[in-house]
Amino acid sequence: MSRLNRTDRPYDLVLFGATGFVGTLTAEYLAAHAPKDLRWAVAGHDEGKLERLRERLPGGAEVGVLHADVTEPAGLRALAEHARVVATAVGPYLLHGGELVAACADTGTDYLDLTGEPEFVDLVYVRHDTRARETGARLVHACGFDSVPHDLGVYYTVQQLPEGVPLTVDGYVTADAAFSGGTLASALNQFARGRRVLAAARDRRRHEPRLTGRRVSVPTGAPRFAEEVGAWALPLPTLDPQIVRRSARALERYGPDFRYRHYAAVRHLPVAVGGIAAAGAVLAAAQLPPARRWLSGRLQPGDGPSAERRARSRFAVRFVGEGGGRRVFTEVAGGDPGYDETAKMFAEAALSLAFDDLPPTAGQVTTAQAMGDALTGRLRAAGITFRVAAIRPASSPV
Ligand SMILES: NC(=O)c1ccc[n+]([C@@H]2O[C@H](COP(=O)([O-])OP(=O)(O)OC[C@H]3O[C@@H](n4cnc5c(N)ncnc54)[C@H](OP(=O)(O)O)[C@@H]3O)[C@@H](O)[C@H]2O)c1
Repeated sequence: MSRLNRTDRPYDLVLFGATGFVGTLTAEYLAAHAPKDLRWAVAGHDEGKLERLRERLPGGAEVGVLHADVTEPAGLRALAEHARVVATAVGPYLLHGGELVAACADTGTDYLDLTGEPEFVDLVYVRHDTRARETGARLVHACGFDSVPHDLGVYYTVQQLPEGVPLTVDGYVTADAAFSGGTLASALNQFARGRRVLAAARDRRRHEPRLTGRRVSVPTGAPRFAEEVGAWALPLPTLDPQIVRRSARALERYGPDFRYRHYAAVRHLPVAVGGIAAAGAVLAAAQLPPARRWLSGRLQPGDGPSAERRARSRFAVRFVGEGGGRRVFTEVAGGDPGYDETAKMFAEAALSLAFDDLPPTAGQVTTAQAMGDALTGRLRAAGITFRVAAIRPASSPV
């Protein structure tokens, strides 16, 4: 099926999980910012909640309502067949996401999600990439703070560097934010599955074609004081560097030999030490079912930070790129990373897949690969900063 003949589907975009914490913010963003002629629907398993959400949305009378439950594959397939693009905010994706992505791959429907779960992404690649390439479906994961600022930030940084030479980019994340119930549940679930995460990654590598004539690596750096950003750099082994690795493998522009390292940037040493200790404690607690239950009980599904708390939250990702004798300092920055900006990134990525003139891609693809310039332009227009802070010769001091 070619992408062109999907215009006969009733909706351009279906937002699944529209009643959840991020789902509601995304529905509100779409109602306020999407083109007036967007044909879209909210979907989920509780029709009463969906109707109440629709009534609250500006222009809600034009928005469709679709019922689907993650435990009912036939309903998920019908949902996929009704849309050109399905955006799902129903997580944890390892628990709830498998059937919907299968339906989208099989029906040639573009799919995007907010997962930060590496195991889910690797399982989807092994199970559905081939089918999605056959049908033309684009499967795009991590379309929120995980991993849009990092993936598009590296893409943007690479564009400031010379072509055809080895390149290195380091990313330094600072974010001030609180968790929602859905994020906490997804993180704890993934932390508890260490061995299965590694097994899924190994299986993926067995299925991935070899990269010939080019090298791409994303080593986990060691903690260090990074003079170039004036902060302690703590390695951050999240999904983000893996997404960057896949963009670099897919796009020749990243050069013949590309390396990316991903860090949290912390200004003061005691905060850095405390951060490592806290991360270790949560990781350890997630291995023990009673401790995991206690932690996940701190926040219920649907809970999340208040509008006031979100209004005070900010993020910045600083990148230092180097290659061909040039050193470039760039930044991607915005407001509340986990929720307000995530809803914006998610909605704009969905609109980009639905309407932008994009490079021809299919199968499991990254945001940079599928939507690079178009999505960067959309996010800039929506208030997220992408800027070059400085360009210097590579040998100059910081
Ligand atoms: N940085 C990022 O990229 C980022 C940021 C935020 C969130 N996330 C991820 O996004 C996901 C959602 O987070 P959240 O805080 O919005 O979670 P949430 O508030 O718990 O929302 C979950 C949604 O799933 C729906 N749902 C639950 N069971 C279902 C079922 N059986 N069938 C159909 N729908 C079902 C819920 O419906 P009801 O409302 O009817 O219960 C709700 O709409 C999580 O995986 C989280 O990790 C990622």
